[in-house]
Amino acid sequence: THQWRGIIEEYRDRLPVTETTPVVTLREGGTPLVPAQVLSERTGCEVHLKVEGANPTGSFKDRGMTMAITKAKEEGAQAVICASTGNTSASAAAYAVRAGMVSAVLVPQGKIALGKMGQALVHGAKILQVDGNFDDCLTLARSLSENYPVALVNSVNPVRIEGQKTAAFEIVDMLGDAPDIHVLPVGNAGNITAYWKGYREYAEDGLATHRPRMWGFQASGSAPLVRGEVVKDPSTIATAIRIGNPASWDYAIAARDESGGFIDEVTDREILQAYRLLAAQEGVFVEPASAASVAGLLKAAAQGKVDPGQRIVCTVTGNGLKDPDWAVAGAPQPVTVPVDAVAAAERLGLA
Ligand code: F0G
Repeated sequence: THQWRGIIEEYRDRLPVTETTPVVTLREGGTPLVPAQVLSERTGCEVHLKVEGANPTGSFKDRGMTMAITKAKEEGAQAVICASTGNTSASAAAYAVRAGMVSAVLVPQGKIALGKMGQALVHGAKILQVDGNFDDCLTLARSLSENYPVALVNSVNPVRIEGQKTAAFEIVDMLGDAPDIHVLPVGNAGNITAYWKGYREYAEDGLATHRPRMWGFQASGSAPLVRGEVVKDPSTIATAIRIGNPASWDYAIAARDESGGFIDEVTDREILQAYRLLAAQEGVFVEPASAASVAGLLKAAAQGKVDPGQRIVCTVTGNGLKDPDWAVAGAPQPVTVPVDAVAAAERLGLA
């Protein structure tokens, strides 16, 4: 009987750990790569979804956090801190519990989904709501980590990128080679940086014959990489990617240019359409930010940018349960029936 052991044990020789490193894990990674039937039909391609909402805390952040908390523990840290739009804080809080550490999280006031706030609370994080946006939170977290005894676990910490690159390894291991195109949502730009590093490493070591083109999508109201300048007051319903000054800016541009890809924007409307399509037609419930990858693929297809016959992977980064408001909003209220089979059958249209 084999259970997936978590990304550090599964990819130990490709990560900066030694035999004595105290591994802190919730057995993250090993997430499903799901063939997307409707998206494949629509694009004429072979489309797969990398379902990162299946990670222990419900997002891809766990891959980076197992590394960040493991290294913090190895270095003797007793407390960690992060800025977050919600998922990083949920992950940091959970892994800090596993490591017996204190976690502090800085979130933009009123702009994180309820499920993510609940996670940080229930895992016992010290939470500060900052009167500012994510970019302000990150500035504050950096300053605190420089001046006080607390380790920064945002993706500006390079071991986070090391952990997150394992998603690319899993995809190549599963498909037998790299896809032609990899599509993902972009916020602080750590994840596009990490996937590109993972694909590069596998290709350099002969484990893939080529590297994919990297296609990144930002929300229109929070698209600094598309505009080529910092967005001072970012806005989007996809709160996870409501970021105006991505920390990994230069790495994202390098991933785009070295891979022959592009970074474009999708509107909130396009994001919500893709969100509903994923749930209603592919059976995959993601949070709105995650749907930006799929919205982007559909936009590119409508623009004639997607040649048929290609193999495409879209990362869907977080679980839909994190932010269920958007699933409920606008949907009809379920009707109430008595305990009566005839009445129920009628309401269901069976009779
Ligand atoms: N999707 C989700 C669900 C996210 O939570 C994030 C980032 C992204 C996409 C974008 O990834 O930042 O590496 O480009 N969330 C961070 C957080 C900012 O604090 O949880 P990125």
